[in-house]
Parts: sequence; C-alpha cells; structure tokens
Amino acid sequence: MSKLIVIGGSKLKGEIVVEGAKNAILPVLAATILNSGLNVIKNCPKLKDVEATVNILEKVGCKVKTEENTIIVDSTNVNSYEIPEELATEMRSSVIFLGALLGRMGKVAISYPGGCEIGPRPIDLHIKALRKMGAVIQEVQHGFIYCEAERLKGADIHLDYPSVGATENVMLASAFADGETYIRNAAKEPEIVDLQNFLIELGVNVSGAGTNVIRIVGGSKLKRSIEHSIIPDRIVAGTYLVAAGITGGDLTLKNVNSEHLSPVISNLRESGCRINIKRNHIHISGPARPRAVDIIRTLPHPGFPTDMQAQMVAYLAVARGTSIVVETVFGSRYKHVEELLRMGADIKLEGRLAVINGVRKLTGASVAAKDLRGGAALVLAGLAAEGETTVTGIHHIDRGYENIEGKLASVGAIIRREE
Ligand code: EPZ
Repeated sequence: MSKLIVIGGSKLKGEIVVEGAKNAILPVLAATILNSGLNVIKNCPKLKDVEATVNILEKVGCKVKTEENTIIVDSTNVNSYEIPEELATEMRSSVIFLGALLGRMGKVAISYPGGCEIGPRPIDLHIKALRKMGAVIQEVQHGFIYCEAERLKGADIHLDYPSVGATENVMLASAFADGETYIRNAAKEPEIVDLQNFLIELGVNVSGAGTNVIRIVGGSKLKRSIEHSIIPDRIVAGTYLVAAGITGGDLTLKNVNSEHLSPVISNLRESGCRINIKRNHIHISGPARPRAVDIIRTLPHPGFPTDMQAQMVAYLAVARGTSIVVETVFGSRYKHVEELLRMGADIKLEGRLAVINGVRKLTGASVAAKDLRGGAALVLAGLAAEGETTVTGIHHIDRGYENIEGKLASVGAIIRREE
C-alpha cells in the first residue's frame, strides 16, 4: 500500500501553480453529455476522481481523449443510461450524472451512493427536486435507483438545504425540461458559477448562479462544439496556504482566485499569517508560531468551506492558545483528529465541535488517511512535526490533489512517496 513519508521542520519557500478545481470539473464533465457533440475542457487536474468520471463517460458511450491538462469529450453517441455499480461507488460524486442522463436519455439507473468517509451522503434533496420536475423515481432496489421521465417539466424548486450536488443535478436536468425552472436556496459555491458558465457556452439559458436563486429556461438548441477552462481549485490553494502557515514558510501561489478563498484568508491572517494578493497570485508568509482563532464554523459558501476544516484543525493544533471548530455541514468529518492525537495534538471532540488546545510541537508518527481532506491535513501536520511522519491510505489524497508530494517538495518539503 503506497504511503507518503514526511520529515518535518522545513520552512517552505518558493511558488506553486494550483491545478484546476476537482469540484468544478466533475459536474462539467457530466454536463458534456448534454450537447451530443464535442467538448474541449482545459485546465483539468490529473486526479483519480477525474479518471473515474471519464470511465463513466466512456461507459455511457462518450469518446474521451486526454491530452496533458485538456480533456476532449465527444458525447455524440451516448447510448446507455446505466452506471454500473463498480464505477458509481468509486466516488460519491457519480450521483451528478443523475440530472444529465435523465435529461439526455429520459432515464437513468445508478447505484445508490454509499456513505463515505465523512458521513452519510443522502440524496433525498436530489430525488425530491427531480420528482417535482416529473421524474418517476422508484425506491432503491438492490442498491440501485431507477429514474424515468417521459418529458421533464420546469418547476419552482426550493432546496431544504443549499446542497451543491442537488443544485448541479437540477441545473443539468432542467436544460432539457419544458419551460422555466427556479432553484431557490441554491448552493452558491464558485463551482456552481463555473458550471453555469459552461452551460451558457453550451447555449443553455441559465442565470443566477452564485446567488440563492438560479433560473433555467429549458429547450434551447445546444452548440455541437465548445471549449471551456476550469476555475482554479480553491481548496487545493487553501491547503497550500496552510502549508506555508504551519511551517512558517514563504509561498507564492499562482493560478488562484483569491475571492474564492476569503474566509480562509481572513482566518489565516487572524492567526498571524501575512498575505498579499496580486491579480491571480497569493503571497503568504507564515508566523514563527500561529495564534489560535476563537471559532471557525463551516458553512455553505460564502461561509468557511467544510473542505478546509481538516487542514485548519491541523494548523490550529500547533497554534498558541485554544481554538474552537464547529463542523456544521457533514455528520462525521473529524476522522483526522484521532490521527493528530497520535502526533501529540491536544484536541477534544464533542459531536460536531472540536476544542483545539495548541501545542508547541507535534511529533512524527505513523498515521492513516481516512478521507481526502483529512489525509491532506495529516501531510500538513507532518510538515510541521518533529521527525518522520508516515501517512498511509494516500489513495484518498490522490482523489483530490495532483502530485501533492511533487508540489510540496518543489518548495523545500522533505517528502517522498513509497509504493
Ligand atoms: C460537494 O459535495 C463537494 N463534492 C464536497 O467536496 C463538499 O464538501 C460539499 O459539496 C459541500 O461543499 C463535489 O462537489 C464533488 P452537499 P455534495 O450536497 O454535493 C446533505 C471534497 O472534499 N445532503 O452540498 O455531496 C449532506 O449529507 C468533497 O472535495 C442531504 O441531506 O455536498 C451534507 O450534510 C467532500 N441530502 C450537506 O447536505 C441531499 O440530498 C452538504 O452536502 C444532499 C445533501
């Protein structure tokens, strides 16, 4: 089983180019099913989740070519509405194919997404919304969901929770629906805006992404050939900002959109990091030792992103003082804490609340990544710890970080992968 070996103590110095956003490319790849044509997607990150999504596209009949960071999807011959179990369970976000396949094929059979490492991942909001658009969705049978829709019709949909995936599924399904669809209490993440920009390039009549009401008028004639470039990954960027903060380093991140990172930047500044923003670069200098922050509450965008919670917990574990973190989005997203305790952290968990008493030093240990962002947090802790840290379970990390060890080593981290 491959692992990452990290020797702590180096102050990172240099510059890192941030890759395209995982959580933008996945829905955009699903959306390429809509136009029965050629879709050239640029600035694609090289990730396991992207490979899994490409496998699903090929399974339903698309032809896909990958050239460096460009993925070309020809969706002319989509001829299947079934997503086989082994592909669907490979990653949670395969549920994003629900809306696109339902719109394009009029039916879809997808394996019910199992829970994942960060807690139950229900799709009740997706199903309730698609039913309101006329989809007939049978209850789960043998682990599969079967949806059919003779003709989807536009609807006025209020999401009980601003679910990113549910918002994306409705946006994709409504491209083919008759009439107007409103999504109220829509997710406002930057990845939703990127999906809207892709759909507009496709010729879909959609507006409002980034606000809590998105309007789509279905039935437009879609372009047969388009090109789109994916936005930078704000969570990968945030992770490298924390890498500079936790090592007292000095990094310049390139190809980032700082507006997508404001809650992370403000908390890092509050903890003592000096951060300057110039166009699409961010320069950060970490303090000798971070200061604790009173409280961080993860929230839907534009609140503090839940996908940065684990990385901040690792960072605050070595801060001066006591910090509180409340994970309001997912039910059990603290699996990294038990591993940080093995490195000498002083963290108490109470349900969704973590009380972090900063310690002067963590010590290297053998730790196991249990999920994507928790795994990244353990690497960050290893960068600051005394001695050697071995991180196993790094297949989780490879789902969302392109060459994490190469990028960190390029700025002075002592880190290597052992197969
Ligand atoms: C997306 O997941 C992201 N994944 C997640 O990133 C991210 O953490 C999450 O949004 C929140 O920002 C992708 O975009 C591929 P949700 P998604 O639907 O769409 C509950 C990462 O590390 N919920 O907004 O699955 C759900 O259980 C990943 O890159 C329902 O109850 O998130 C959760 O508690 C992890 N019913 C909350 O809403 C539903 O039908 C937010 O989920 C749907 C969701």
